[in-house]
Amino acid sequence: MKIIQCSDYNELSLYVAQQFAQTIKSKPDCVLGFATGSTPIGAYKKLREMYDKGEIDFSKVTSFNLDEYYPIPPTDKNSYHYFMKENLFSHINLPEANINIPDGITTNPDDECKKYDERIERAGGIDLQLLGIGVNGHIGFNEPSASLESMTHKTSLTEQTVKSNARFFNSPEEVPRFALTMGIGSIMKAKRIILAASGENKMKAVEMLESGKINTMWPATVLNAHPNVTLVWCK
Ligand code: GLP
Repeated sequence: MKIIQCSDYNELSLYVAQQFAQTIKSKPDCVLGFATGSTPIGAYKKLREMYDKGEIDFSKVTSFNLDEYYPIPPTDKNSYHYFMKENLFSHINLPEANINIPDGITTNPDDECKKYDERIERAGGIDLQLLGIGVNGHIGFNEPSASLESMTHKTSLTEQTVKSNARFFNSPEEVPRFALTMGIGSIMKAKRIILAASGENKMKAVEMLESGKINTMWPATVLNAHPNVTLVWCK
């Protein structure tokens, strides 16, 4: 694992945006994996700026998001559909038909999840996957557990995740208790992965990841078994 320590959030955001821009430039029809949460917001802003300057073209790109709450309509401002539109998609020329995010209102989550993995396969796999990390070490919504699920699946959120994500909602009661998330296997199939971690509260999870050991109670540590991972972090 390559480890990059940044002096601040701006430097981290610039690094992530530059890696995405380089991927698009070297392969205009690349498949990108996007993440949500507060960490990638700065990188998405920089990608928008690069797009505005005519430096990158998303017209042939395909994207897959890691996860979505369940149930939640795409119009809900806390949905990851809404987040991606606000922070990136409505500002760039990524065709709507090329955007994939798990459907938060599906009546058949198991089928939606199965088809999501199939869609990733059909697109040729993810060239570059961005990940944030939960305070408890979760990636996507793969929560700490004695065993981790491989494929995209419906999962329950831990109380700790509900508590940390409640900052975006009016109250903890409003946080959906479930999510549809790419599984660990779906994530590990990406050709390259960048995990971005920002803030003191993520340092325990970063330390666990840096230890090189794999422990399913800190789900991000499975990335130690992937051949092309960059961890970029700042306090
Ligand atoms: C959510 C998402 C994760 C994300 C995490 C951290 O739980 N499902 O993909 O990494 O939040 O978010 P933040 O960057 O806001 O700390």
